[in-house]
Amino acid sequence: MIDLDAAGIGEGISEVIVTTKSGAGAPNAAPIGLISQRTEAGDLILSVKLYRGSQTLANVLETGTLAANVTDDMMVFVTAAFEDLRAADFTDFKAVPVLKGANAWIVFAVTSKDERVEYVRLLLQPERIKINRKAVTAINRGRNAVLEAAIIATRIHRTEDEQTKAEMRKQVEQYKKLVMKCGGPREHAAMSMLEARCSGL
Ligand SMILES: Cc1cc2nc3c(=O)[nH]c(=O)nc-3n(C[C@H](O)[C@H](O)[C@H](O)COP(=O)(O)O)c2cc1C
Repeated sequence: MIDLDAAGIGEGISEVIVTTKSGAGAPNAAPIGLISQRTEAGDLILSVKLYRGSQTLANVLETGTLAANVTDDMMVFVTAAFEDLRAADFTDFKAVPVLKGANAWIVFAVTSKDERVEYVRLLLQPERIKINRKAVTAINRGRNAVLEAAIIATRIHRTEDEQTKAEMRKQVEQYKKLVMKCGGPREHAAMSMLEARCSGL
């Protein structure tokens, strides 16, 4: 029995860092929403919706496996979204790359896939779990604001429409105000990395 609650994964969408490896063994990390839905019969259905074009999707289709890394470190979210993490940030858990600094790792096998034009929805079966640390953190609006800004920033390049792009940049600026007010140094650093990446999109 795999206790996802113990790893901080509840029902709804949990933002995690998904780590994968290519067929050739190269590790990759990206922020992804892990979807957990309960059916009327009471079963938990776990899935991810991976947009086409990502390395994560290519790797998962090749290997049929992924790991969810539970962390609230916004520098990890922003770095994994826009740059590559260092090789030294990874270790192996059950032959799948995972992040050394994560609070918990859950390795999933892909059990089925639903192919759509823009994305592929993959159903997941948890296989192994490791809880490295039980983290107790209060809600921080600055941290949440970095996350929201990062989601917008990863979507800017998907639109061709300049007006929509300008609106998205404006939203990122709004979130920045919250990050500066409520975040700590880690959130401030993540926000400036994100802003630098956003200006080039
Ligand atoms: C908080 C957050 C959640 C995200 N969730 C998803 C998701 O559920 N599915 C997806 O395809 N992309 C998602 N993204 C965007 C990917 O992380 C982004 O496209 C990333 O650059 C993919 O990296 P890769 O090419 O190394 O896989 C999310 C981004 C952020 C910041």
